[in-house]
Amino acid sequence: MLEGLLVDLVPYGKRFMENAHRWANNDSGFWAGMGRREFVTQAQIEAEYREWRESNRPETGVAFGVQTKDGKPLGYFGINFLSYHSRVANLGANIGEPDYWGGGYGTDALLLLLDYAFDTLDMRRVWLITMTLNERVLRQMEKIGFLLEARQRKATIADGVPYDVVVYGLLREEWPGRVAMIDRLGLRAR
Ligand SMILES: CC(C)(COP(=O)(O)OP(=O)(O)OC[C@H]1O[C@@H](n2cnc3c(N)ncnc32)[C@H](O)[C@@H]1OP(=O)(O)O)[C@@H](O)C(=O)NCCC(=O)NCCS
Repeated sequence: MLEGLLVDLVPYGKRFMENAHRWANNDSGFWAGMGRREFVTQAQIEAEYREWRESNRPETGVAFGVQTKDGKPLGYFGINFLSYHSRVANLGANIGEPDYWGGGYGTDALLLLLDYAFDTLDMRRVWLITMTLNERVLRQMEKIGFLLEARQRKATIADGVPYDVVVYGLLREEWPGRVAMIDRLGLRAR
């Protein structure tokens, strides 16, 4: 378990799966899916998870459930497209409970994930993509010190409007470490 100030990251499992259907179909699915609005059944989600477990994906990714300090499942954060050769990894994030957005939970989870990627997995570089409509992520990237590395023009559509998709990257030498970042951001336990 990775213990944060507002959240803990734990191995993704049944307690999170039970909520995944709701998270896929509510507004968090729209933001995490860069404008996608789709209806996903519980059976589809379970089948995809089984497929993920049965493939060699666990070797190329790490899936965490995000929970509050008293154990309420909030969403999932993960490391994808992990390459042990180049030591580069992609990050994915979803706080599936909209009532918890803007409260620092996502930032706390991201800081845990970054320390894990750099210190435990020994990655040299992490990156992620989002659409420019997602101001929460843009703000988070700016605060944590990710660099805007690429912009794919009009690469997605959200509610009928095209938006650019942006790639953000962070190198190990640019990461001051979680403790320093908590101090810089003034993140506090509730
Ligand atoms: C993106 C996400 C992980 C961020 O986590 P969060 O807990 O909501 O964000 P935080 O509270 O840690 O804050 C992030 C920053 O965004 C700001 N913010 C919050 N709501 C905002 C809004 N509506 N518009 C712009 N900025 C906003 C916060 O104020 C904070 O900046 P600040 O500290 O300078 O004030 C979370 O919102 C989420 O999972 N959203 C749905 C799925 C998604 O977008 N996934 C990411 C795909 S790349």
